[in-house]
Amino acid sequence: DPVQPPDFKKCGNAFDIGTGDPLKVNCCPPISDDIIDYELPPPPHRLRIRQPAHMVGKDYIAKYEEAIRRMKELDKTNPNDPRGFKQQANIHCAYCNGPHDQVGHKDLDFQVHESWLFFPFHRWYLYFYERILGKLIDDPHFALPYWNWDHPKGMTMPPIFDNPCSPLYDAVRDPNNRASAVVDLNYRSSAPTNDLRQVDINLRTINSEMITGVNNNLQFMGAPYCDGSCPRPGMGTLERGSHTAIHIWVGTKDKTGEHKYNEDLGNFYSAGRDPLFYCHHANVDRMWTIWRTLSTPVRKDITSPNYLNAQFLFYDENARLVRVKVANCVDHKKMGYKYHYMPTLWRHYSP
Ligand code: C2O
Repeated sequence: DPVQPPDFKKCGNAFDIGTGDPLKVNCCPPISDDIIDYELPPPPHRLRIRQPAHMVGKDYIAKYEEAIRRMKELDKTNPNDPRGFKQQANIHCAYCNGPHDQVGHKDLDFQVHESWLFFPFHRWYLYFYERILGKLIDDPHFALPYWNWDHPKGMTMPPIFDNPCSPLYDAVRDPNNRASAVVDLNYRSSAPTNDLRQVDINLRTINSEMITGVNNNLQFMGAPYCDGSCPRPGMGTLERGSHTAIHIWVGTKDKTGEHKYNEDLGNFYSAGRDPLFYCHHANVDRMWTIWRTLSTPVRKDITSPNYLNAQFLFYDENARLVRVKVANCVDHKKMGYKYHYMPTLWRHYSP
């Protein structure tokens, strides 16, 4: 059977996945007795367009900053509003660091990483996050930017997130990996190298995750995870590779202070506290949309009902608790958004 959505009323404690250490955070969501089965609104005539973060203009930046500012403001005016910045960050902690159990299996955590839930869960997460931001600035066309780290021009931290005076900034990052530092998509395995060489390694890494290293859909999407499955049965290529590399690359490496767990972006429980998280995941999501169009070898969407009927709970832009299922997020255009086109040079860089 598919996993059932977690029971928010039974939310427990969070722990660090790597070490098993208990964490001093309470990341449980507000509870609600009304749960609505979510239906996608009919796609608008004009889709929301997610643009590459390194190319956005002044007006867009001002809007985006204002939306994040208002989201952070909600933390102060109404800390229980599920649309607030901290509450939104807590979603990631609750679904990833153990607080939610699988319904009917109190010894099994509900875990959205390292399985075929990875892409669909994060797609829904961003979907509501984007709609909340749009609602806060009264702009139904608002779309998140994406960190275009698969293109040489996007292989540094997008400058809009690197301005200490912006609400998009987060001080809890690795000070060495900002400004003009080139991302290392092979973070855990490659030795330091020069920038040009690094760009080449990055393109070949993505090629392998998207094309040459993938022989069937589960290798890309991740291993099956159903009702009663042990958590983390196996990651897909992109989740394991570029996606995780960016998390670790951005998070702090300092173990001496208050942050010992690669915060913010480098740990599940804190990743959502960095606005860059949603921009990073927009590109992860975009890579899924591109992967579905590749034809070598033939890609197929997962058809198992255990995948399509898996469910999650989120709060929508009107603070209603809604139940969503994977089947309704497979086609992103039906969800009302698309990605501004950028060339995918990695297609031509086999490892
Ligand atoms: Cu839920 Cu990039 O992690």
